[in-house]
Amino acid sequence: MTSAINQPPTRRTWLITGATSGIGRSLAIAALERGDNVAMLARNSGDQARELAQRRPDQVLIVETDVRDEQSVRAAVERTVERYGRIDVVANNAGFGLFGAVEEATDAEARAVFDTNVFGVLNVLRSTLPVLREQHSGHILQSSSYLGQTAFAGVGLLAATKYAVEGIADALVDEVAPFGIKVTLVQPGLTATAFLANIDVAEPNPAYDHTVRKVQTSIGTLPPEAFNAPDRVVTAIMAAVDSDRPPLRLATGSTAAQDMQAALEFRLSELDSWREITDNVDTPTH
Ligand SMILES: NC(=O)c1ccc[n+]([C@@H]2O[C@H](COP(=O)([O-])OP(=O)(O)OC[C@H]3O[C@@H](n4cnc5c(N)ncnc54)[C@H](OP(=O)(O)O)[C@@H]3O)[C@@H](O)[C@H]2O)c1
Repeated sequence: MTSAINQPPTRRTWLITGATSGIGRSLAIAALERGDNVAMLARNSGDQARELAQRRPDQVLIVETDVRDEQSVRAAVERTVERYGRIDVVANNAGFGLFGAVEEATDAEARAVFDTNVFGVLNVLRSTLPVLREQHSGHILQSSSYLGQTAFAGVGLLAATKYAVEGIADALVDEVAPFGIKVTLVQPGLTATAFLANIDVAEPNPAYDHTVRKVQTSIGTLPPEAFNAPDRVVTAIMAAVDSDRPPLRLATGSTAAQDMQAALEFRLSELDSWREITDNVDTPTH
């Protein structure tokens, strides 16, 4: 039986990476409005975060952190525990995008997006899991995307980072369940943040004009209503955080759900239609 001391307190402590903009910032504000404590990890604290800290000095800890730097992440986690004594929710949210054909993206561009979106995630997990295991409680919110389950021309490298975190989370959920730790992959559809403005774009190769460039143009001409508000994404995330049985995957937005459903159905139907060939590989037993 879990002792009362291991139950999450009414006032939670959050550690959020990429907390000064977009979904991370909305999540931080929503947590603060509930009366929770928030360690806001960000590369640059910025005026808005400093203002939040001035308004709620007891609840906000801003720590300048680059998730690519393991030492900086470890120091941020230590400061959070020193200040609040525990961590209840880890929002592994920092990330950025890379757009371009698989062939167009340079080695440096491909490594850079993995450095933040995958190795940064691992830095945060390695630093926070000992705290969560010791508490015997905690919830990891792992930022993925609908591009964690599906991809199309131009998003191969970005999707590869999100597929990677989905694989990590599929294993992690079993590894940490015995310690009372929950894991939820958050899979946003298009969301109205600075994400697209901050995306790296690979040098175009005219060979991809009819595929990748067409996608690029169609994304560039999407109407504002194609993007969900970060606050609504956060409402969905809060429902998962408050649930006794949070999902391993939480899609935010109907377009994300539809795109992933189509991809999953296609995978199942292909698995099924090649099943005879697949099963024929099994070594005959007699
Ligand atoms: N917006 C969408 O359409 C969408 C869709 C699916 C998934 N997502 C995912 O949602 C998450 C949040 O993105 P967002 O939409 O809120 O975009 P955003 O407004 O651009 O926020 C991303 C945050 O990550 C931070 N970050 C990037 N690299 C970092 C690093 N090395 N160390 C620390 N922080 C770093 C950024 O900080 P700086 O300001 O210093 O760059 C920024 O605060 C990302 O993981 C993204 O992949 C977004």
